[in-house]
Amino acid sequence: MITSVPVAYEEFMSYLDKVFTINENDIKVMIKEFHSEMQKGLSGYESSLKMIPSFVDRPEGSERGKFIALDLGGTNFRVLAVELDGNGGSSVLAVSKFVIKHECMTGTGKQLFNFIADSIETFLSDNEIDRTKIYDLAFTFSFPVEQTNVAAGTLIQWTKGFTAEGVVGEDVIVLLNEALRSKNINCIRVAALANDTVGTLVAKAYQDKNCDVGVILGTGSNACYPEKLTNISKWRGVRKKGSMIINMEWGNFCHLRRNCYDIDLDEESNNPGYQYLEKIVSGMYLGEITRRIVYDLVHRGLMFSGPNARRIFARKESIETKDMSLIQSDTTTNLGEIEEFLTELGITKITLLDKKLLKKICSLVSTRAARVAAAAISAVLSWLDPELKDEHTVGIDGSLFEKYPDFSNTMSEVFKMLFNEKAKNIKMELAKDGSGKGAAIIAAVAASSE
Ligand code: GLC
Repeated sequence: MITSVPVAYEEFMSYLDKVFTINENDIKVMIKEFHSEMQKGLSGYESSLKMIPSFVDRPEGSERGKFIALDLGGTNFRVLAVELDGNGGSSVLAVSKFVIKHECMTGTGKQLFNFIADSIETFLSDNEIDRTKIYDLAFTFSFPVEQTNVAAGTLIQWTKGFTAEGVVGEDVIVLLNEALRSKNINCIRVAALANDTVGTLVAKAYQDKNCDVGVILGTGSNACYPEKLTNISKWRGVRKKGSMIINMEWGNFCHLRRNCYDIDLDEESNNPGYQYLEKIVSGMYLGEITRRIVYDLVHRGLMFSGPNARRIFARKESIETKDMSLIQSDTTTNLGEIEEFLTELGITKITLLDKKLLKKICSLVSTRAARVAAAAISAVLSWLDPELKDEHTVGIDGSLFEKYPDFSNTMSEVFKMLFNEKAKNIKMELAKDGSGKGAAIIAAVAASSE
């Protein structure tokens, strides 16, 4: 609680509290809307949830072999060599990380895919991979892709700041193969295309049969779960029995109460009108929401009265989600770490009240994110098992879940609030590197079914 503050602060903070708080009723309404959008998406009607069939089911745990996996979807591109032992165990034999330059994300598709092929070339050379053999490769491409089979799919739209021209509407595997051929990389056979959520679920389910939801809480946010084919009424495939993992693309869920900061952020983003849930929940946006609130307070003369604060906080992304993480973990009495962060940013006049307010704002923004994420997971679980009779493992990857202070505790509180003692049937587990290992498992399944 912030004490002895002028009325204006109190008024403003209670306004912020109001517009950022998601209460139990909001969550229940959200879950209902979620179910209705899921139903529409599965039936092929217009819906903010695309509910994309992945052509993959949960694994047996007995898949084995060595595979190459590519992981594209955030700020880094990764190439991995993964080994599956056939007993639920997997290990990453080698991994190389390449920073994706801004011009590759926002230039042309050719530039982006050439960068991917060049990175693969570097990986093969650095690890002295024998090029006389053929390796099955799985491509984790973490964007909304309409799949037509396990190794083909067209990009529906870009998300998370990517805009590379000439890729939307194209089959990304064709683009990858073209780039590989043009660089003379002939030792690779692209066996599978997967979303990162699907990789995460598959990787967790490889070890744990109870895992039936895969979630990403990182730069972006999304989830997948296995759905009975009979429930996917838009499914036109030959196979009619069994289930298939559905990539929900929940980042685009749109029935959410948004406030003026969310609306402004969306309007100035490069995909306005899309990804409302992602813009409230994910790491790409939390820092920017916080920055917008701070700027508003500075502008109103309620925070950082020094001469340069306006200019500093007017700059987009001057606060990043990783800074919020640091701010919220500062438990020192005089908030020395927050002071250090602000000083580095160039802020010259900092009071204890400024620091407390900043911490409080970060907490409002991140608590809302965690509650919305938990509400979305609850919607999926109650869809799969309305009485929550069974045990469910939710495999989660992403730095918000892994590193953000209290994020997972706040999520657990929501489960307790909604499901009381049955909340113990929900186990959230970090699925570190799920997208790399999971992709290898998908490649193994795809390669063996040929
Ligand atoms: C974005 C993408 C989605 C991906 C998620 C997490 O929401 O559209 O495909 O799974 O980010 O990376």
